[in-house]
Amino acid sequence: MSQEKLVEIKNLKQHFKTGRHSVVKAVDGISFDIYKGETFGLVGESGCGKSTTGRTIIRLYNATDGEVIFNGEDVHGKKSKDELKKFNREMQMIFQDPYASLNPRMKVSDIIAEGMDIHGLENDTEARKVKVEELLQTVGLNKEHANRYPHEFSGGQRQRIGIARALAVDPSFIIADEPISALDVSIQAQVVNLLKKLQKDKNLTYLFIAHDLSMVKYISDRIGVMYFGRMVELADADELYKHPIHPYTQSLLSAIPLPDPVYERSRERFTYDPNDHDTSEEPQFREVRSNHWVLCTTKEFERYQTEHAVNV
Ligand SMILES: Nc1ncnc2c1ncn2[C@@H]1O[C@H](COP(=O)(O)OP(=O)(O)O)[C@@H](O)[C@H]1O
Ligand SMILES: [Mg+2]
Repeated sequence: MSQEKLVEIKNLKQHFKTGRHSVVKAVDGISFDIYKGETFGLVGESGCGKSTTGRTIIRLYNATDGEVIFNGEDVHGKKSKDELKKFNREMQMIFQDPYASLNPRMKVSDIIAEGMDIHGLENDTEARKVKVEELLQTVGLNKEHANRYPHEFSGGQRQRIGIARALAVDPSFIIADEPISALDVSIQAQVVNLLKKLQKDKNLTYLFIAHDLSMVKYISDRIGVMYFGRMVELADADELYKHPIHPYTQSLLSAIPLPDPVYERSRERFTYDPNDHDTSEEPQFREVRSNHWVLCTTKEFERYQTEHAVNV
């Protein structure tokens, strides 16, 4: 992981108008950077705004406010068709539900090559076929699979097809939106291992979205925890697991069983109470420990710093 920023998300907001007077603040002012070559895990319960964040980053939605800078360029500024196409190629998405995201009437070869066709990457029929076969092998399938249809595959295999489709246009950044949540536990590790291997081989940067902290620990370099459209905590993966500071993160971690009987006996699950906060001022994102950021007020900041001092 380098210290060079690939994606900079600055005060990003996505407010959906849901009626004449009602607005859903799906994403409400979040800021974070994603470094080249890293996996940034984005975690939080269903409905907290993770998918909306991903979709807004790749400009499936225009942002209500804020900025997304990709490789130094503003994604949401006015862009020509060609510039947008370039971004679309650089940033690919992998989805949770490999059933819903693959067209059932298309052959696997055409599904995988669709992006290549759009971007005019392999215009020669034979070269296109060879590239599809290579991609199938890269994701652990084989070339005979090219002529089949999505329903002939298992969930894990379908997710591999989705990964091959994303890789087909040689992206540098992939947003994986709960890519393993719909898979059997036994298959989840295989897909995560494949993603890790691809990251190394192809120098990819990932935004890996999950609703559960146990899944992101293994793959993420850094983790951001979202709650109701805000980022409440951000730290290196190890640091976050060892020293969760925000009570919401602590509650998420308290829900994860560990294969340690001593720990399991003493593990207490608790529920986060959003009202149990200091309300004397608007909370801000503050660095409580080195590279470890928490959404808190000044008072909470002082308390967290005492409670989570580095040299205690
Ligand atoms: N297109 C949309 N129009 C209106 N509300 C939406 C839309 N997409 C998402 N939302 C709402 O925004 C919130 C965040 O949704 P989402 O980003 O899908 O959360 P997550 O991926 O964390 O489960 C939810 O309350 C959801 O109902
Ligand atoms: Mg989602």
